[in-house]
Amino acid sequence: MTSYDQDYQRSITDPNHFWKEKAQILDWIKPFTVIKNTSFHKEDFRIKWFEDGELNACYNCVDRHANKTPNKTAFIFEANELGNARSISFKDLLKEVCKFSNVLKSKGVQKGDVVTIYMPMIPEAAYAMLACSRIGAIHNVVFGGFSASALASRVDDCDSNMIITADASVRGPKTISLKETVDVALEESKKNTVKTVITVKHIGSKCHMKEGRDFWYYDLAKFMETTCPIEPMKSEDPLFILYTSGSTGKPKGVLHTTGGYLTYVAFTHKTIFDVKENDTYWCTADVGWITGHSYGVYGPLANGTTSVMYEGIPTYPDASRIWKIIDTHKVSLFYTAPTAIRSLISQGDEYTQTTTRTSLRILGSVGEPLNPEAWQWYHDVIGNGKCPIVDTWWQTETGGMMLSPQPHGMNLKPGSVDKPFYGVKPELVDNKGTIIIGKGSGNLIIKDSWPGQMRGIYKDQDRFFKTYFSRFPGSYSSEDGAKRDEEGYYWITGRVDDIINVSGHRIGTAEVEAAINNHFDIAESAVVGVPHLIKGESLCAFVILKAGSLKSNSIKGEVMQIITRDIGSFAKPDTFIVVPSLPKTRSGKIMRRILRKIATGDHDNIGDISTLSNPRIVVKIIELMDHKG
Ligand code: PRX
Repeated sequence: MTSYDQDYQRSITDPNHFWKEKAQILDWIKPFTVIKNTSFHKEDFRIKWFEDGELNACYNCVDRHANKTPNKTAFIFEANELGNARSISFKDLLKEVCKFSNVLKSKGVQKGDVVTIYMPMIPEAAYAMLACSRIGAIHNVVFGGFSASALASRVDDCDSNMIITADASVRGPKTISLKETVDVALEESKKNTVKTVITVKHIGSKCHMKEGRDFWYYDLAKFMETTCPIEPMKSEDPLFILYTSGSTGKPKGVLHTTGGYLTYVAFTHKTIFDVKENDTYWCTADVGWITGHSYGVYGPLANGTTSVMYEGIPTYPDASRIWKIIDTHKVSLFYTAPTAIRSLISQGDEYTQTTTRTSLRILGSVGEPLNPEAWQWYHDVIGNGKCPIVDTWWQTETGGMMLSPQPHGMNLKPGSVDKPFYGVKPELVDNKGTIIIGKGSGNLIIKDSWPGQMRGIYKDQDRFFKTYFSRFPGSYSSEDGAKRDEEGYYWITGRVDDIINVSGHRIGTAEVEAAINNHFDIAESAVVGVPHLIKGESLCAFVILKAGSLKSNSIKGEVMQIITRDIGSFAKPDTFIVVPSLPKTRSGKIMRRILRKIATGDHDNIGDISTLSNPRIVVKIIELMDHKG
């Protein structure tokens, strides 16, 4: 037995002792006596970890390192423009976070309030998150690529009373006005719960400031003390909400709590990246997504790790930028998404040849399947053939990594996410819930609780149970499909629900269809995902016009504008096709499986269409697609 096997067995057979020991990675204000108190069964459904313990997440991420290693760098901030980097030590971080906390308090933010953060990738985004956790407020970070409407609906859903934003963000050659989007969102907001908007002046653009509501952050911060007491939090007190797409149109406010989440992200980060005192780590994810929360802010800071934070894009000013940043700051641990890897492969090896990347020790991947060709390039070219790759499978809902290789002592199979992390009990089941033993493929479920798992959908506990625990009673349903080989290695095959993963961005087909259907001339639409060489998947939209509407050349452009307005431009379909009707069952259900086959050109394997109410439409749509192509 390897040491992984032994530790894994112990974590499963004796979770209480295992997690009691691992939770010592944090400093607790009040030590816990109860460890795991969980059940996935309807009668006594509960998920509680370390419930009588008390701690503060910000203290664990900032103060304790500022006390011990004040001059160690917490963040190296690399701006969009080349040659503009600066370091923030743990001592500086503590001061900045305290000032930010005092600004929040001066504007009336209290424990339990929801503060929305709509920010670029700048240090103030992390200060704002940590300030919330310092004073017990719940942060709700909304990705800066979301539109005003998407921001408004998220703010309304959680009754947030404050938004923290920046004047604008710079990404490559583009400037994105964030404050302007906030202004529009607040006009659209139906509940008007937001009383205060705090704006960080980042690039110095002019903003409309509404009297009594809008304040410049540094105007307030300059009067603030650089110390601020921490708020002791119960282990199960909320830490943050993060909205994510589900199979229905309405995004879900995924709720994470304090003690279990922080233990889990700190421990997984330390173990899977084998973090050492002098490592420089870089997670390229935006703070607007779960990876940015767990492995951009909370995990690395809880471990006192030095992290790079980069505002720009991988291809600015050219496709060597990422590798240059790695060389400049001697990055040893690097964590990114397959889309980024594939898009950089497509630019050609000349961009890697001007850099050495010899500082790298471990390479990580997350968000989508890492295909074997991309794995090989990442390993051979980027890691110079010497760095293990940790391909980590997890979700917004799981809080932290669930299936992943550990960098030492485990076989690495390109394309596989290897084996479960400690305490994670995966199983594969068929659609009836029958367990698949040994080699096979099926629905990936998790049989027992782990400390980092979500605790609820904000203000909708019934939906929480129904979404994740009702399909396979007694288990968490990940809604991913997976294969397992004869040696017990897992391979993720993709979502089994109506969620599409475009460049690692999780997009619900229902959300996109709802946006498309907002066009006056459109009667109905169906969106499916098709494989894409770089993005992993791309969206293909089939639309039906209302009776009497004439197809105009401008309709595609108009629909794209609506999607940009309602969701954000990252949700725009690559293919858009007007069809006379959609393949449906006799009970009226759209057969997306068939549309997916048509969209991928897999016309010979469409399968049985005799159950359709309108089988002839299949040939018609194929003709239209061929004509278009
Ligand atoms: O389908 C899986 C895919 O991303 C989904 C979760 O998306 P999100 O909640 O946005 O979190 C992304 C970052 C953790 C999963 O249901 N996914 C995530 N990691 C992998 C993956 N697919 C294959 N391999 C992975 N390593």
